[in-house]
Amino acid sequence: MTMHTETSKKLFSEAKAFLVGGVASSLHKADFEEYPIYADHGIGSKLYDVDGNEYIDYMGSFGPSILGFSNQALNKAVCAQIEKGTHFALPTESLNALSRTLVEILPCAEMVGYQSTGTEANLVNFRLARAYTGKTKIVKFEGHYHGWADELSVSVKPLSLKSMGPRNRPWKCLESAGQLESSADEIIVLPWNDIDALERTIKRYKDEIAAVITEPVMYNAEPILPLPGYLAAMRQLTKDNDILLIFDEVITGFRIALGGAQEYYGITPDLLTFGKAFAGGYPIAGVAGSKEILQSGVHPAGTFNANPVCVAAALATLDILKTPGLYAEMDRITTRLRDGVNLLAKTYGVKLWCDNLVSIWQLSFGIDAPMRDYRDNFKVDKATYLRFYQKCLARGIRLHSGRGRFYISTAHNDADVDKTLQVFDDVFKEMFSRHA
Ligand SMILES: Cc1ncc(COP(=O)(O)O)c(C=O)c1O
Repeated sequence: MTMHTETSKKLFSEAKAFLVGGVASSLHKADFEEYPIYADHGIGSKLYDVDGNEYIDYMGSFGPSILGFSNQALNKAVCAQIEKGTHFALPTESLNALSRTLVEILPCAEMVGYQSTGTEANLVNFRLARAYTGKTKIVKFEGHYHGWADELSVSVKPLSLKSMGPRNRPWKCLESAGQLESSADEIIVLPWNDIDALERTIKRYKDEIAAVITEPVMYNAEPILPLPGYLAAMRQLTKDNDILLIFDEVITGFRIALGGAQEYYGITPDLLTFGKAFAGGYPIAGVAGSKEILQSGVHPAGTFNANPVCVAAALATLDILKTPGLYAEMDRITTRLRDGVNLLAKTYGVKLWCDNLVSIWQLSFGIDAPMRDYRDNFKVDKATYLRFYQKCLARGIRLHSGRGRFYISTAHNDADVDKTLQVFDDVFKEMFSRHA
């Protein structure tokens, strides 16, 4: 089955002449794709490309589109602010309302601060941790992504087990050409979901470690859940040793519960990074924590911080996300997808792991048990996933082009699930039935 995508192809060949890589983010086009599809518009759970093809979207714009596309209440709030002016570089009354709302919603928040992206917000949290503790080192985990800046881009996506060094003393892998070698000097890299490794490191370097930063659910590989008790033990260890715990909830925030992973797992970090789903598709991110830590003398700048259009979007998004029963409904939808995929796996005898957590779900080929850390990621059969991805895209289901992590929105419904499972059935039949 082939969709016509000639206009996308033509636009990409034009773009390559004047836009580096032809796209605005390295993730907007997968390496194996000749060209990406070009978006025209989106409505609810559906995305339409410039050639008029319709896709049920499970990319969620990398997470922000928690209300689906073009949500009417969100559009109305944003348009009302546009009429008043888009940017003043001054505080607005609505900013107070947003900050108050966040302090009510987020368990760790006595105060909040704003940036435009998760990358910037994590850099602010590194500064806050260093200013507050007077120490310099930060522990981060293999496979966790905290943004593209030099100090954050360490051991995010090592390409082979060999390049990572021994598990008990991982090497620090830099991610990009042009990245300073010294950017990893103050970073300690550890495997995730291994409390003994963290304990050994903290014992040895506790007087130098300002903070431990973690994604509470490791979503930047094939998704990996924390082992039972791991986050609680991490919380205790950091607390006992005067080390701050930073939860990077740029993905989990407002997605697995209104109060994010800290609400879902009942673990309160010292510092929080949030972004993505927070404003339903508008660029605003931030940090949260206690008054004492947030008032440590760090005053980050940023021309577009708390831009009023983004503030209006965030307020409208949070207002909708407060609707009772909304997270349970998203969980019901992803549970149906999970159960449907697992039934297909059984029917066609395919080894895969499919799981869900509220509005996020995953599908990994080649494994039939949950992974523990980034190193397990190499067991996943990526080649099969890529073939699966391409066949689904050609049938109007848009999955993640790089890994089996998918989002749904409040707009996804049972009809989307039915169609998705029908397409998956066709694709499984083509790929895995004995007569294929
Ligand atoms: C967990 C996590 N932290 C931070 C970031 C960086 O956020 P941004 O892309 O807004 O800079 C991302 C982006 O995907 C992320 O997944």
